[in-house]
Amino acid sequence: MMRMPLPRSLKGRLLLLLIGGLVAAQVASSLIAYYDRRASIERVLARRNAVRVADLIRMLDGMGAAGREPAVAALRYPVIRLGPLAVPRADGMPEETIGRETVEGPIAEAMTTAFRERLRPPRAAHIRVGQTKLRYSPESGFVPAPGIGSTAQFGWGVSVRSVLADGTPVVVYVEIPQAILFSVSSLLWQFFLLSAVTIVLVALAVNSVTRPLSELADAAERLGNDLDAPPLREHGASELRRAAHAFNSMQDRLSRYLKSRVNALSAISHDLKTPITRMRLRAELIEDPPLRESLLRDMSELEKMVRSALEFIRGLDSTEPPQPTDINALIDSVCEDYREAGHEVAIEGAATQPYPAQTQALKHCLSNIVDNACKYGGKARIVVKDSDRELVIKVRDFGHGVPEAELEKVFQPFYRLETSRSRDTGGTGLGLAIARNVAQLHHGQMRIRNHPEGGLEAILALPRA
Ligand SMILES: Nc1ncnc2c1ncn2[C@@H]1O[C@H](COP(=O)(O)OP(=O)(O)OP(=O)(O)O)[C@@H](O)[C@H]1O
Ligand SMILES: [Mg+2]
Repeated sequence: MMRMPLPRSLKGRLLLLLIGGLVAAQVASSLIAYYDRRASIERVLARRNAVRVADLIRMLDGMGAAGREPAVAALRYPVIRLGPLAVPRADGMPEETIGRETVEGPIAEAMTTAFRERLRPPRAAHIRVGQTKLRYSPESGFVPAPGIGSTAQFGWGVSVRSVLADGTPVVVYVEIPQAILFSVSSLLWQFFLLSAVTIVLVALAVNSVTRPLSELADAAERLGNDLDAPPLREHGASELRRAAHAFNSMQDRLSRYLKSRVNALSAISHDLKTPITRMRLRAELIEDPPLRESLLRDMSELEKMVRSALEFIRGLDSTEPPQPTDINALIDSVCEDYREAGHEVAIEGAATQPYPAQTQALKHCLSNIVDNACKYGGKARIVVKDSDRELVIKVRDFGHGVPEAELEKVFQPFYRLETSRSRDTGGTGLGLAIARNVAQLHHGQMRIRNHPEGGLEAILALPRA
């Protein structure tokens, strides 16, 4: 079975459901009202015709047999025949051939009741109602139309058989046109007008629900990059206001929590610097050279860790204003540092225009990944791709890469692979964490993958739009 594709957005689904439902309800209620009014008007018409026929029969009752024939002949409508014969209609068709016949239904019922009340003395009246398609002409009244034309009208042909007071059989034929309540075009107009009003109102209502929701979704997306984003507007229905309020207080708590941790960490790291310096001075005084050397090595490792931790924390809390930065010059200067230290670093491609960056932070990020490439992969190859949408900088090396299961873990602060520790490359495990922080500060992404041809590739993607 083929399934109808539903709109993807909540707004589309609500609109479809509400408008579809309202239109269906409107069509159904118009149809019910239409048929109901038509039936009651037809009942009134039937009653009026029955009264008229009854009055005619009473009039014929009171006339002499000789006077009746000319009176009946002079009447153009309704058609009256006296005598026991099957009576031809005004157009010569035998009465029995008219349409589908019924002795029940609202018209027959209304006429029977009217006869019972009106005919004095009471007598049997046999009423037959046939559906027919009629056309009115002044000469012959309603006659069956030959084909469906614009002037043709559906209606009911009713024959009433009874007897006059003196026993003469009489047949009266009347026609009741089907009530036309309103034209199709006015019905359509009414429909479109109502639909237009409904659609506008429904769209407003749906919007008032979905707008705060999509604002909430946007804010949740923003939260990952910017904990200090302005709070959400708390508006709309009470449930939505509550959701926005809960979100705002969550963001507030998160940001305070993070700030207090950053502050505590930075205080500790900062305060460690002084005792380390003092210990280094004291270590210099140690007489035993091997002991002194190993203590001093430990000291400088400690110092390095404290420095990196401070840098990491500063990165989390960076307030450097973004400014248009010549990315090519920035990459060149990073590479130059490593070339001077004896590493092989190649650059391919270039940025086509300056990038609005927190320059110092971005330089730090790049040198961290170039540092890794040189330290763990021997040499680095940098590829720059620039477009209107994003600036992508890839740094590839030719080492052993990182096991697939560890690709995400190495971004955690202080996380180092066993192999690097044993090789004594002297890192603190903060380089990639800092690099990813900087990428996120620029609303970009930083990821690593094992290059299909070997070595690790770090990919920094920064949005331009
Ligand atoms: N290019 C690479 N090739 C192989 N392993 C890598 C590479 N880059 C990073 N790693 C692994 O990921 C770990 C974390 O890297 P990260 O840069 O965060 O810290 P680090 O290099 O150990 O220390 P730091 O950069 O702070 O001096 C490294 O210890 C290393 O095991
Ligand atoms: Mg590193």
